Amino acid sequence: MENDREKRIIDHREMMKTHITQGPHFENDMQRKVPAPLIAKPAKGGKQIELTKAFDGIIKKRDILAILEDRISHRKYTGEALTLPELSFLLWMTQGVRKIDPKCKYTFRTVPSAGARNPYETYLFVNDVEGLEPGVYHYLALEHKLEFLFVLEDQKNELTKAYAGQTFFGEAAVSFVWTVVPYRTEWRYVTKAHKYMLIDAGHICENLYLACEAIGCGTCGIGAYDQVMADALLGLDSSPTSDENNEFVVYAACVGRV
Ligand SMILES: Cc1cc2nc3c(=O)[nH]c(=O)nc-3n(C[C@H](O)[C@H](O)[C@H](O)COP(=O)(O)O)c2cc1C
Repeated sequence: MENDREKRIIDHREMMKTHITQGPHFENDMQRKVPAPLIAKPAKGGKQIELTKAFDGIIKKRDILAILEDRISHRKYTGEALTLPELSFLLWMTQGVRKIDPKCKYTFRTVPSAGARNPYETYLFVNDVEGLEPGVYHYLALEHKLEFLFVLEDQKNELTKAYAGQTFFGEAAVSFVWTVVPYRTEWRYVTKAHKYMLIDAGHICENLYLACEAIGCGTCGIGAYDQVMADALLGLDSSPTSDENNEFVVYAACVGRV
């Protein structure tokens, strides 16, 4: 048991190191001319909601230094709803697509990502957003639209249970859940991909912190959750696999007005 603990710690520390000069070198699928995977998950045919990019009216703070200095994790909210333009702003600032390369292999977004692979998808558990019925939504980053997926029965409790009993997460106006599609980054970086993908997640959530601060909202990054329960809420399978279509939850954050 003690040996297992140590072996796992060593394995996980190794994952944090760069293997550009050490470790086995595996040819990547990009070099092998394997077609690039999709740059974003397509819509499933549900109702789509238009989002805006006209943000002028909602931004309260523009001074980047003040935004950085004032940023804290918020776990208490006023309980007021967010507006759809505010939610549009948060989605744009965290995963908005500014440019797509001509061969549709890369997206350039409002966040940096190793090799511009951008392997994350954004799901929203909406409780209180004006103009949106409560339920689960997927951000269609390429179109800057939301797609309504389904109503989750007893959503606040289900979310709280899956996210380590954190009631403030289950009950916030809206909770962001970021899933990774690992093959998007593995296609280029094989075994180096996993370190890069975790770093990518940090950038996304930090942008959410800063964007919230700019519009009078607050957020709290959430790393404590039950993998199987959180995946199951989105209909995803947590089993170990190297399948190209594999997708699972990596990080989350709840948002409310403060
Ligand atoms: C990767 C990560 C995971 C976190 N997970 C949780 C969490 O599950 N629950 C929680 O209440 N806060 C969580 N936090 C927030 C931290 O507790 C918080 O950032 C830290 O206490 C510093 O406080 P500050 O953000 O207000 O500066 C997480 C933060 C990060 C970066």
